[in-house]
Amino acid sequence: MSNGAYRAAYDESLADPDAFWGRASRLVDWVTPPPRVLDDDRPPFYRWFTGGTLNTCFNALDRHVAAGRGAQAALHHDSPVTGTKTTFTYAELLDRVATFAGALDSLGVTKGDRVVIYMPMVPEAVVAMLACARIGAVHSVVFGGFAPAELAARIEDARPTVVVAASCGIETTRVVEYKPMLDAALDRSSHKPESVIVLQRPQARAAVGERDTDWEELDWDELVADAEPADCVEVAATDPLYILYTSGTTGRPKGIVRDNGGHAVALRWSMENVFGIGPGDAWFTASDVGWVVGHSYIVYAPLLTGATTVLYEGKPVGTPDAGAFWRVIAEYGVKGMFTAPTAYRAIKREDPEGRLMRGHDLSSLRTVFLAGERLDPDTYAWASERLGVPVVDNWWQTETGWPVAANLRGLEPMPIKAGSPTVPCPGYAVHVLDERGERLPAGREGAICIRLPLPPGTLPTLWGDDDRYVAGYLSAFDGYYLTGDGGLVDEDGYLYVMGRTDDVLNVAGHRLSTGSIEAALAGHEAVAECAVIGVADELKGQVPRGLVVLKAGIDAGAEGERIRAELVQRVRDEVGAVASLHRVDIVPALPKTRSGKILRKTMREMADGRTPVVPGTIEDAGVLETLAPVLRGPA
Ligand code: COA
Ligand code: AMP
Repeated sequence: MSNGAYRAAYDESLADPDAFWGRASRLVDWVTPPPRVLDDDRPPFYRWFTGGTLNTCFNALDRHVAAGRGAQAALHHDSPVTGTKTTFTYAELLDRVATFAGALDSLGVTKGDRVVIYMPMVPEAVVAMLACARIGAVHSVVFGGFAPAELAARIEDARPTVVVAASCGIETTRVVEYKPMLDAALDRSSHKPESVIVLQRPQARAAVGERDTDWEELDWDELVADAEPADCVEVAATDPLYILYTSGTTGRPKGIVRDNGGHAVALRWSMENVFGIGPGDAWFTASDVGWVVGHSYIVYAPLLTGATTVLYEGKPVGTPDAGAFWRVIAEYGVKGMFTAPTAYRAIKREDPEGRLMRGHDLSSLRTVFLAGERLDPDTYAWASERLGVPVVDNWWQTETGWPVAANLRGLEPMPIKAGSPTVPCPGYAVHVLDERGERLPAGREGAICIRLPLPPGTLPTLWGDDDRYVAGYLSAFDGYYLTGDGGLVDEDGYLYVMGRTDDVLNVAGHRLSTGSIEAALAGHEAVAECAVIGVADELKGQVPRGLVVLKAGIDAGAEGERIRAELVQRVRDEVGAVASLHRVDIVPALPKTRSGKILRKTMREMADGRTPVVPGTIEDAGVLETLAPVLRGPA
């Protein structure tokens, strides 16, 4: 039965955002409480809490220590890949963060400077993020699975003063050396940092300071040994806390900007109201600090709340088995866990009966949250039946920073419908629009859009590129933010998300751009033209497939095999293994419209075995016929 709490909160958040978010802002400690809530002076650029000042790190650490939580665990680092477990109390984490903030300060990093962090799931990644927040520097974490081309593009755009890296990351079967990739990225980038700090890990130490470089290379431990702790720096609510690059359709990543004030308020509010987690609760998000889920729900939201977060350096399967998540839940008394559906599909594939759950005491677990890609009804049914707790889908994106739609477990749990992330969260006026921008009635599929202003915590713009923000998100329909996802709302107001309407790929919950993979393929000397499409995959949701046309005169019969293997390797080397591109086909031509646009969507539909929609503007329908047998083959 509805208790009306959701409806009341949702309606108030849209009708009177000042009252709703003004009240929520009291969940955060301010230096100067915000004199304004919604600042709509310069539409479409809306800001929140203008005039307020605070420090995000203070809210995540210092205030909890001051309130008596110093001895409570803030972070458990659980690393089956190195066989280590380390717990940091709030007081210990604060100490580490303040010291590293002092180290950054000693290198001349000041408020507004950017710091790129290229690290795996180690506590130092969290320390580096919070240390930046402490001194008002803007961090930009780059996922460790990205290779030099992706890293270089981010360094080029963020123009960091300092880069912080680890010597290596550890995958199930291999050690991934980061330093050579960082060196290659810095060689490519026209921007060079002043300093590079390297955390040495024993699994593969990096050569530091051995090359002739324009920047100084420093050892994390040595730097920290000499550092004096730094205090929190007061920043404006509207000052940037971080930039997180995400994939669009082109190869150039988009720098999503997150502010300090709106972010702290929204995340703190969401932890309690969406996820039902309060101070002192144990919380486990199995993602990576390089993705938005990691930023928001491994690091910031649980720490802003005074909860205990688990930083898990391992995989759902293979480290050592499909019982790893259950062990973590039992060991730390986890109340809520969050991951991507693909992780549960991997577990289900290895342990369909859920036998490995039995050896663990899962009685602390109240809810499982899944996001990052569509939650298919089979995976939903398997997880909820085996675990016996609600399995809650939630839909959002890097741009929004926290759920757009969810079943708000803290505010008012609602009946779950498989296939739906339930209802829009307070602050989000979600509408489904047709091509002309008209609102569609219940049950009709269209573009999922959010009426402006977006709530606190969402992107105010793209880093250094207001025009791209407006062109990419706000120009399709006047007064709306375009999510890029298609879907519908049913008679009960439940949202259903069907997938991206653009060419953005979602591979195992990782967002990747067709453009960057295409750029890697196009860089091969034999390639004249290419296209990448995302095709359905049972485990990863989607995987990319490449189609290339060779330059005239190259014999595909004699050289095809070598070229295909080189192309697969090139994508691993440039974009990263995480792109999961395993199949490239050499084709005589690519289908295009008369204006030269490649028909990726039509090819995707054919590859997925659906009836393709062929636009009337196709240049040569014969090309599609030739491709049909190729596309229908396995990915
Ligand atoms: N650093 C370096 N390489 C990485 C990496 C990282 N951080 N993360 C992944 N890779 C590599 C993997 O080792 C793999 O390499 P391989 O081709 O040599 O085997 C490749 O990238 C593909 O990785 P992935 O897509 O993760 O596949 P997988 O087979 O290793 O694992 C799952 C499959 C489902 C277990 C895994 O994708 C997973 O745990 N997903 C959880 C989803 C998630 O965390 N999403 C984040 C957003 S919520
Ligand atoms: P990212 O920015 O990496 O978080 O990816 C965001 C995209 O992932 C969204 O635009 C969706 O396409 C997809 N996505 C995330 N969560 C869900 C979900 N719960 N259901 C369906 N798709 C999702």
